[in-house]
Amino acid sequence: MSKSILITGGAGFIGCHVVQLFVEKYPEYKIVNLDALTYAGNLENLKSVEGAKNYVFEKVNILDPDALDEVFANHEITDVIHLAAESHVDRSISDPLAFVMTNVIGTVNLLNSAKKYWAGELSNHLFYHVSTDEVYGSLHDGGFFLETTPYDPQSPYSASKASSDHFVRAYANTYKMKTVISNCSNNYGPNQFPEKLIPLCIHNIKNNKPLPVYGKGENVRDWLYVLDHARAIDVVFHKGKTGETYNIGGFNEWKNIDIVKLLCAKMDEKLGRAAGTSEKLITYVTDRAGHDLRYAIDATKIQNELGWEPSLQFDEGISLTIDWYLENQDWLEHVTSGAYQAYYSEHYADR
Ligand code: NAD
Ligand code: DAU
Repeated sequence: MSKSILITGGAGFIGCHVVQLFVEKYPEYKIVNLDALTYAGNLENLKSVEGAKNYVFEKVNILDPDALDEVFANHEITDVIHLAAESHVDRSISDPLAFVMTNVIGTVNLLNSAKKYWAGELSNHLFYHVSTDEVYGSLHDGGFFLETTPYDPQSPYSASKASSDHFVRAYANTYKMKTVISNCSNNYGPNQFPEKLIPLCIHNIKNNKPLPVYGKGENVRDWLYVLDHARAIDVVFHKGKTGETYNIGGFNEWKNIDIVKLLCAKMDEKLGRAAGTSEKLITYVTDRAGHDLRYAIDATKIQNELGWEPSLQFDEGISLTIDWYLENQDWLEHVTSGAYQAYYSEHYADR
């Protein structure tokens, strides 16, 4: 096969869409999905590709350098797309060290394995690091995040992602590794773990549970449909310039409270409830500590240089997303009950 691409975190929300896109679009590539299957990783996300000839799954933790070396050697890895991470800001506030371990140490382990395995021919291989817009900090006075915006991470999550970005750039500079980084805004869509705002609200509206809005709900996020992010990753992987950074965003800013109200209105309609029913579930709760006010990406560079732009309007994307969660109640039940975790512990006990 022409390439053997290691995709880390492929059982998670964004990773599963990237894996599916690459497996289906590039039958000539071998896709090796490496994932530790933490609470956020779920092989049910990958049923459509599990029997594909060009797909392999490896249950490996990026904190295990020997196991990483073995994967590089066994699968003759030619390139890496690195998504594995602890990704939830609230969890980073209660357990910062877990984020340092996976996001910083795990990334350095992966860089080391790649450097070792590709020694002497580093320029033939690409290490693509998938990062977040949160590394740029919080916008207060208008404006947008550009690729040149100085890093100013404000949460343990964004500090760990910023650190991993710095390590990737340091390996490019010091060891002349071929690297590329993209920093994306908030994703939404199918398969997102229901600890994040949009799936949490969809799940709670369906079950008539309170919708916890942090602070006054005034914080602003720039939302992108997850398949558009996967398409952007495809474009950056194949056409991105070595050593460059690409910002990816939806040109789609929303205040949290407006998103929650939109979800309520759409779900009232879809569930045949009277207009205004679900809004009564909105409950203002204590704000997230150090809550970033606004993120907004300027995605002009990837648009102009690589020809990528979002394909879906938000109204369409949010409707598809709600429908997916309503049609996949089993998936939601499994991830919320932890049943799939018990299954995997049993299933992989001997590995
Ligand atoms: P996610 O939490 O849904 O998935 C993370 C995946 O990584 C899971 O499958 C998990 O099992 C795996 N993982 C975690 N720790 C691991 C470890 N130590 N070893 C191996 N695998 C491990 O995350 P996501 O939302 O899909 O985000 C994927 C990447 O994209 C992350 O790097 C994140 O920082 C970045 N990102 C996310 C968003 C977003 O809105 N979700 C936006 C921009 C960038
Ligand atoms: O910007 C990219 C980032 O987007 C990614 O790097 C992160 O991995 C991803 O989790 C996401 O971070 P956010 O903190 O923006 O996403 P979250 O869905 O947790 O929260 C979105 C906004 O909604 C945020 O302002 C906090 C608020 N919120 C969140 C939850 C879970 C609430 O008001 N209530 C909630 O219950």
